[in-house]
Amino acid sequence: MFETLTAAPPDKIIALMGQFREDPRPGKIDLGVGVYKDAKGNTPIMAAVREAEKLLYERQSTKTYVGMAGDPVFNAAMIGLVFGEDADRARIRAAQAPGGSGALRILAELIARSKPGATVWLSDPTWPNHVPLVRAAGVTTKDYPYFDAATGMVRFDAMMMALKKAAPGDVVLLHGCCHNPTGANLDHGQWEAVAELFVSRGLFPFVDLAYQGFGDGLEEDAFGVRLLASRVPEMAVAASCSKNFAVYRDRVGTAFLLGKGAAEADIAYSQLLSVARGMYSMPPDHAAAAIRIILEDKGLTASWKSELETMRQRMVSLREGFADALRRQSNSDRFDFIARHRGMFSRIGATPEQVEKLRAEHGVYMVGDSRINVAGLPEDRLDTLAASIISVMGETA
Ligand code: LMR
Repeated sequence: MFETLTAAPPDKIIALMGQFREDPRPGKIDLGVGVYKDAKGNTPIMAAVREAEKLLYERQSTKTYVGMAGDPVFNAAMIGLVFGEDADRARIRAAQAPGGSGALRILAELIARSKPGATVWLSDPTWPNHVPLVRAAGVTTKDYPYFDAATGMVRFDAMMMALKKAAPGDVVLLHGCCHNPTGANLDHGQWEAVAELFVSRGLFPFVDLAYQGFGDGLEEDAFGVRLLASRVPEMAVAASCSKNFAVYRDRVGTAFLLGKGAAEADIAYSQLLSVARGMYSMPPDHAAAAIRIILEDKGLTASWKSELETMRQRMVSLREGFADALRRQSNSDRFDFIARHRGMFSRIGATPEQVEKLRAEHGVYMVGDSRINVAGLPEDRLDTLAASIISVMGETA
């Protein structure tokens, strides 16, 4: 059987985690995988999650199956978090899923069931795992321009021009906030223009919301999703709890769909659950149950929001500090975009060879496209790191 196979290429982001772990150099810096880190380089369990897990231990009386959709109370709370208190709940359906990736995967499958041979447009660049997650459903993918490496800005006109050529019924995958890997995000006016285009061209939005609360705040980061939900007849949203609840390995996310009406939403939802049944049967529940406890309890919700806000502000101030250090070391403002970006990532514009040199000679780890995880920036060594980067990338672009 297996003799027909050749080895799969390693996942570049996940492989980097192992390489970093094995590097014996004491001053090594991990700017690789998108995992939040505190000033000590740890990824702690959030206080509210710990407390909720204790309560869960005391209260949970059974481990029987939760069902294909997961826990309806968790799902209802997630609708509030993502779509807001004014959400049109009659048309929204939610299914607990194994992480944001699990949500993306079952929604892609639902799209393929609804429209065999559908075209899904992905931003260029996008999170590399979007490609296999979406293509595995048998859909075709196309790219739309998104990022201008020279300015660090969104190529908005080019993006709109490309999407104007998309056929009615085409699906467009958008990053809800904190674009991965670039950190360059749409502003309110741009979201408005996107929503208008989607309505006029009959395009179907598929939003990946993996970092809600890491950019400009919990409510602000949901602006695009909520705007689209108020305008378009149908859409799909995959939300992740991995980062904003820091429950990475426990795998919690939610797949949402918005139907034209309640009856259409129910039919699509039954198909979504049948996809889940055929793929993994039922989602894991441990951290979802803890998140439900947090979202049902005012005190725990306040604790969670405040810790999340501290994490967000730390990333904003690291961005500012790093842009300052790079300005000092390069005598230029060419890296100022890092301070303007939001979320966990920015692309610094190094070539793959320069990225490799930074790893080999300076112990600085980043993804090959020069994506850095800003939460991994060492706040006490920003100038040293900036000097290493400038020594490899050169003083001028
Ligand atoms: C990342 O982009 O680093 C994270 O979303 C982790 C992953 O699975 O790639």
